[in-house]
Amino acid sequence: MTPRALLSLLANGTKAMDVVRTALDLGLLDALEAEAADVATLSAKFEVVPGRLYKLLDCLESLGLVRGEAIGDDFTLTRYLAVPGLRDAAVAVAGPGSLELDRDRYPWRSLHGNLPEVLRGTVSMPESAFAWPPSAAQLEGFESSMAAGLAPFVTTFADHAPTLWGAPGLRLLDVGGGNGTLAAELLGHAPSLVVDVYNLPEAEPLVARTRAERPHGDRLGFVGGDFLGEPLPGGYDAMSFVRVLHDWPIPTARMLLRKAYQALPVGGRVLICEEFRTPERLAAQFFWSYFLMGVDACVSRLYAISHYERLLQGSGFADITVLPGPVELIVATKSTSEETRVSR
Ligand SMILES: C[S@@+](CC[C@H](N)C(=O)[O-])C[C@H]1O[C@@H](n2cnc3c(N)ncnc32)[C@H](O)[C@@H]1O
Repeated sequence: MTPRALLSLLANGTKAMDVVRTALDLGLLDALEAEAADVATLSAKFEVVPGRLYKLLDCLESLGLVRGEAIGDDFTLTRYLAVPGLRDAAVAVAGPGSLELDRDRYPWRSLHGNLPEVLRGTVSMPESAFAWPPSAAQLEGFESSMAAGLAPFVTTFADHAPTLWGAPGLRLLDVGGGNGTLAAELLGHAPSLVVDVYNLPEAEPLVARTRAERPHGDRLGFVGGDFLGEPLPGGYDAMSFVRVLHDWPIPTARMLLRKAYQALPVGGRVLICEEFRTPERLAAQFFWSYFLMGVDACVSRLYAISHYERLLQGSGFADITVLPGPVELIVATKSTSEETRVSR
């Protein structure tokens, strides 16, 4: 798509989403993904006016979401076919669990129209609206919003549960573990695992609520602390950083991995899972890239897997493997003691 075409579509973004939502609600996307169909057939099936449906389908074609093939002069014979995955994508973006709609509730309008001032540093996101880390008052809403986007992470962990948690009685510390939703999901796939969520002390009631709502009892624990100012606690076989490291400057991420290394026993594992940089994930990250221009304390940058492989090696970890999934999971092992590492 040329810049001119893309910008033209973006300028009509609200209308474009109206078209997508309507096509989804009508059932048109299901029909178009199942097989190519012409305007006459579709308009009869959905009881709509052919000359109007044709224009809606052209809107979808201009968005690159369907392909049309004209047959002769009669526009009702034009056949359309959806690009694969369109319906699921429309449900993800416009349906009830939409992350885009969730993010739209954040106070981005404080920046809108003021980007020159934002870039010069004279306008920022008011801390009362969004602070990083979130204030005690903001934490509940933020953690729920994060939990709403956990599905692909849960799938990856679930797919690899036998490999990750096969040994009995393992203890995991989920560092920056939100309101404990991910921890509870992990427990559902690993009967003898114990998971403690490490988060700011204000998050304790949120994790307590998750514990009360889920059937895992004391297997879901909480450790309050500030990972910037304190060492990470010992006593765990593994530590996970899910959507945590990319929020911080690289030296801070390196420091957190060093703290994990120091706290883990030899043979202990660190797990990193976040949206590693791809064009598609960068598109989904657009909201945060925009919103966080006004929040200097939060970096929120997507990195390639190789970036973390370097950080892990530099922090002393070995046996780095990347497990596939909707989001990849990097697993690395502490293979020597801190003393041995330092003396080398
Ligand atoms: C982007 S959220 C990710 C939450 C969760 N892991 C998930 O993927 O849904 C970052 C997490 O780090 C926590 N966090 C931020 N600063 C922290 C700090 N200094 N010490 C401990 N946790 C912190 C936040 O409260 C939040 O739970």
